[in-house]
Amino acid sequence: MASNVQPGIAVIVVAAGSGERLGYGMPKAKVPLGGEPLLVHALRGVLAAGVASQIVVAVPRGNDELRLLSETLTVETAGELRPDITVVDGGSTRSESVRAALESVAAGISAVLVHDAARALTPPEVFRRVAASLAEGALAVIPALAVVDTIKEVSPTGQDSAVVAPERVVSTPSRQQLRAVQTPQGFDLATLRNAHQAAGSLNPTQLAGITDDAMLVEALGTEVFVVRGSAHSLKITTRTDLLLAEALLEGQMAPRWVEG
Ligand code: CTP
Ligand code: MG
Repeated sequence: MASNVQPGIAVIVVAAGSGERLGYGMPKAKVPLGGEPLLVHALRGVLAAGVASQIVVAVPRGNDELRLLSETLTVETAGELRPDITVVDGGSTRSESVRAALESVAAGISAVLVHDAARALTPPEVFRRVAASLAEGALAVIPALAVVDTIKEVSPTGQDSAVVAPERVVSTPSRQQLRAVQTPQGFDLATLRNAHQAAGSLNPTQLAGITDDAMLVEALGTEVFVVRGSAHSLKITTRTDLLLAEALLEGQMAPRWVEG
């Protein structure tokens, strides 16, 4: 594991969300999965990937428990070339948490992987695939899976047909070209910093529409490459997702070792 550490890569783990939709009354990063907090699983995946020389974790502002947990786990689990761990206070949106973490990226780092703690079971292979693409020269690279459902674009029916149905179909994009996007998303550090700086001029409505870091980089006109993600990389958002993650963790499909 330790021999895979590539100098110059930081992995940012955003774990500062409140977990409203999960409804545990605690930050999602603390919610237990198989008896351990989601953040522990997420950090284990990062450590097992062995691509990071620094890990920056964004925790909810002032949350000493998650801070300590991050620091202790990183020290206990990593090998000889263990990554430096930095814990920062996150912001009130995911983007703000990423920006807070970007400010603490160490000198000498040239690329970053931004990962959701909520994707607690992402297999190490996915981190390595993203890192490998960056090493081959990509300035931006995201993991994604083919979409299994047919996706429709819709609009509200409005007054004319509201009694018939609330929405109508506008178009059906070809599923062949659609991908469901995951994390870790990898970037050249300067490119991601520029993208976040440019986002400073967006209005609140535009900001609310920013759902991943790649969108900001796309807005700069930078080419974003796509590598294969994993079914184990599901984002734990609702109770149903947590149940599925428990099954993946305990069952025959243990995510660390089976590539989806
Ligand atoms: N996140 C963050 N800072 C925020 C909001 C979100 O670091 N202010 C992180 C979350 O911790 C999570 C990832 O971004 O790892 C994706 O967010 P999401 O799944 O929406 O998590 P929560 O915001 O915690 O959940 P909810 O929206 O249900 O409150
Ligand atoms: Mg959220």
